Amino acid sequence: MTARFHNPVDTRFGWGSLLELADITAHQRVALVTFPEARALGLVQRLAQLLGERLVYVIEDVQPNPDVAQLSATYERFWQQAGDCDVVVAVGGGSAIDTAKALIVGTESGHFDELLALLASGQPFVPARCKTLIAVPTTAGTGSEVTPWATIWDALSQKKYSLHLECTWPRIAIIDPQLMLTVPASVTVSTGLDALSHALESIWNVNANPISDTFAVAAIEDILQCLPLLRHDLANQELRSRMALAALKAGLAFSNTKTALAHSISYEMTLRHGLPHGIACSFTLPLVLGLAWGHDATRDRTLQRVFGPDLDQAQRQLREFLHELGVKTEFADYGVTAADSQAMVTFALQGARGKNFIGRLARSETPRGA
Ligand SMILES: [Fe+2]
Repeated sequence: MTARFHNPVDTRFGWGSLLELADITAHQRVALVTFPEARALGLVQRLAQLLGERLVYVIEDVQPNPDVAQLSATYERFWQQAGDCDVVVAVGGGSAIDTAKALIVGTESGHFDELLALLASGQPFVPARCKTLIAVPTTAGTGSEVTPWATIWDALSQKKYSLHLECTWPRIAIIDPQLMLTVPASVTVSTGLDALSHALESIWNVNANPISDTFAVAAIEDILQCLPLLRHDLANQELRSRMALAALKAGLAFSNTKTALAHSISYEMTLRHGLPHGIACSFTLPLVLGLAWGHDATRDRTLQRVFGPDLDQAQRQLREFLHELGVKTEFADYGVTAADSQAMVTFALQGARGKNFIGRLARSETPRGA
């Protein structure tokens, strides 16, 4: 048995670890990318105090699911007004970190359209310039702080692009669970389920290996135990820390495998039905578990370490877990007909992430529960 694991992100974890940002950015000019509520939460002021004169530029209007329609103007303003900054610090959930990943990739012309054309070509490219990224997640879920990927949406054309370059790996990730204390219940649940999906998707994945499995299994066990408790005890520091660590482990797991079928399905559910990412990529987990099971003895063994030997029981456990968190688990619950859901699963299997899935369906096979 051989395995290889690579993750270049210098990762700092711990309560209050945000304070390390001051030393990390000493003598550098910092651009901050954060979410609109950060100012009302006192976070922008706190960062401004921490960074002092280092802070030269602030973007605080990042929207959920960064879309080309908004990103274009932000990108061009950033390169015109903050092109001389040394480092971009992204503070927020997946949308803030993904937005920052798109911003740091500089085109020759400074125009966003050039970047979009490169992404649309689907070919690898070396950017004209690139800023250093420091990622500070404020939710326990995205994993974007330890991966190189960013999802860029184009709702108007019903498309999404995946940005992935050597320079879009964050240089440093600071995971400070204290920043997650104010996250409301609905976002705590949806982001936590995103992390659960990352961990499971890294297991039923053609790129899985024993090292990614180690992170994934630990993450799943923690999330199954912690998330229902945390939902009713949002100020609990220990639970916040455990969920933050679980989401980090899930991020590390899929940083080496990428995601698979549940995420491939989620992109359609977000584009067409407007589901938040964490719900879109988790409501199908019991279904996808059924499709994954029985295709590969090693993968089955890893899944059985978490769920035991019985598939029906495993699916029931996952379904009940999601229901307890208020998440419905059938396509019909989201207004998708049986025929449409089957077409969506078939389409998702052909997508880039779907091709990572171990349990590829025969065309005529009907997904259980779809
Ligand atoms: Fe995700």
